[in-house]
Amino acid sequence: MFVKDTFLRLIAAQVKFLPSGHEFFVEGEDSLLVAAIQAGYIPNHGCTNGNCGRCKARLAAGKIKKIHEHDYVLSQYETRMGYFLMCANTAITDVVVEADEARSVADLAWQKIRAQVRKIDYPCQNLAVVSLQTPKTKTLRFMAGQWVNVELENGATATLPLASCPCDGRNLQWHVKREAHDFNQNFFSAEPSQTVLITGPQGEFVLSENHRSALMFVVQNAHFAHAKSLIEHAISIDTAASFDLYWQADDENGHYFNNLCRSWQDALGNFSYHALDNLAALSQQLNQDLAVKNHYADVYIAGDVNFCQHVRQWLKLQWPAVQFKTNQPV
Ligand code: FES
Repeated sequence: MFVKDTFLRLIAAQVKFLPSGHEFFVEGEDSLLVAAIQAGYIPNHGCTNGNCGRCKARLAAGKIKKIHEHDYVLSQYETRMGYFLMCANTAITDVVVEADEARSVADLAWQKIRAQVRKIDYPCQNLAVVSLQTPKTKTLRFMAGQWVNVELENGATATLPLASCPCDGRNLQWHVKREAHDFNQNFFSAEPSQTVLITGPQGEFVLSENHRSALMFVVQNAHFAHAKSLIEHAISIDTAASFDLYWQADDENGHYFNNLCRSWQDALGNFSYHALDNLAALSQQLNQDLAVKNHYADVYIAGDVNFCQHVRQWLKLQWPAVQFKTNQPV
């Protein structure tokens, strides 16, 4: 059987989801669910290990193979109709699968997950990069750019933007500034390994459906967290025509992920990165670039309210037809 399966799939199998038309590859013994999530899509799922049945989908064409047993029981009728669990199967030929996917924030259920802090890095004195992990059986379904509510063991709460890609719903990241209130102080004094309660996701500052176009991100200080999530997601989907990132850092933390931004620019032929120190420098750089670039289809602005208002008004004067999204109501 192994030889036959190997023969059937000498290279990665291509998967097409219906009705979305999303396409991706599945390799090795990865499940169809894992491959879809890693490709940046958000199919329905819950436990990821065959218990809940939420990743149930229907095989419309091709051949699949079960990679592990599961507790969830499909009825005889469902099996006859081609239903299977995406978390427990892989493809051994190219396949077409009818699958429910989250296409907008409205399709995402409100979730409550207890996660563990794995690591806290301090790229600069007043900013903590917090890495968390959810239990194996509970990944967070969210869209890039969204927020979650967080409650610490001592009861302190905050709402934080996720700085990680939804293509990995187990390993999450936040960028937390050192500020006077309880919640932020906690991350600057706590040992890793504490558990936190996450509820969410929320917010509509997400990639629009039209993400095949050129994408432009204009961000201020630690609001860079939003851009990181959006950019990582757009890279995993691999459909954007180009990326332009303008990061204005005028507080003491500076461009704390400068190396990451430069590595995107070096690795991707269609990525340009501008690190700016203040609003005047940002305006000057945009002025210079806008004079020679075609219009952008999607502009994402993340910063405080004044920053969002200023950049939005300024860009609207230059490009009246361009679509904007901001992380603040403006
Ligand atoms: S995700 Fe729960 S059964 Fe597949």
